[in-house]
Formats: sequence, C-alpha cells, structure tokens
Amino acid sequence: MGNVGVEEKILEPELSEEQKEELKSLLQSFKGKKGALIQALHAAQNFVGYLPPPVLKLVAQELDFPLSEVYGVVTFYHFFSMKPRGKHLIQVCLGTACYVRGGQEILSRLQRDLEIELGEVSKDGLYSLEVMRCAGACGLAPVVKVDNDVHKRVNPAQITDIIRSYQ
Ligand code: FES
Repeated sequence: MGNVGVEEKILEPELSEEQKEELKSLLQSFKGKKGALIQALHAAQNFVGYLPPPVLKLVAQELDFPLSEVYGVVTFYHFFSMKPRGKHLIQVCLGTACYVRGGQEILSRLQRDLEIELGEVSKDGLYSLEVMRCAGACGLAPVVKVDNDVHKRVNPAQITDIIRSYQ
C-alpha cells in the first residue's frame, strides 16, 4: 500500500478511491482560472451532492486556497450546502410581504405535514426545507420556491399537496 494521504482519510466513507481521484482531477481543471473557487465548489457539490468538511479541505488543497476562504464562500452563498440535501429543495419566502400573507403558516404546515425541521431533510430523502428572504415577487405573495419552480399566491391549505406532487 502506498502512503495514505490526509485527503484520503478525511474523505471516508463518502467516496471510493476512484471517486476521490476523479474529484481531484475535476478540481485541478479549475486551478488558476478566473472564479476558480466558486466553479470548483459547484462542481464538487454536483459530484458529491453536498459539501462536507472533508470535501472543502480537498478543494482548498487542490486549488491552493486557504481553508478559511473556502468556508467563507460556502457559508456566504445559499446555493452551497454543507449538509446532504433532499431530492427537492423547498424554499419558503419569509420576506415581509410573504410573511404577512401566510408565509409563516406555510412553513408551519410543511414542518408538520412533512415532519421536517428547517434546514433538515425529510426521512424519505425527498425534501429539504429552507427559508428565503425575498423571492422578488412580493406582489404575488406568498411565494414558495421548489427547485427551479416559483409558486405564487400559494394557499397555505394547498401547500402540502403542491409539495407532494414532487416525487
Ligand atoms: S417577500 Fe416574498 S417575494 Fe418578496
């Protein structure tokens, strides 16, 4: 057996040896390019499904970025996730307009009906639940985004059925 590199230990058990090598060469392909860090993080998230600390460490190593900077970028942009996500991402808008027109009720119903906490994944692995500040459609509040679909003027009583149509 050859040397067991730090990155090999820290990636276990999520990735096989082959996958680790594949991810490394994928990351290398961004090295030195403009916007390399964000692009590499996107690629790593698509590859692994999310960005756990060992993957962030690997990104930092392969691209020669300080680990603190990598963490900073991942925590700043909402499209990066350090936790596994469900198959579908539900984002309930809780900006002012949506909040006063039922956003909070929508959120409570989803938490109750899907048995899911904010920031968590449902037991069946189908849904992740998050909130957003403003979806940019205040006149059509309340708004719920599911993956790339924006549902407007959502009736809280119908939200669970809407979500269940995503399987
Ligand atoms: S507050 Fe919800 S879309 Fe603006």
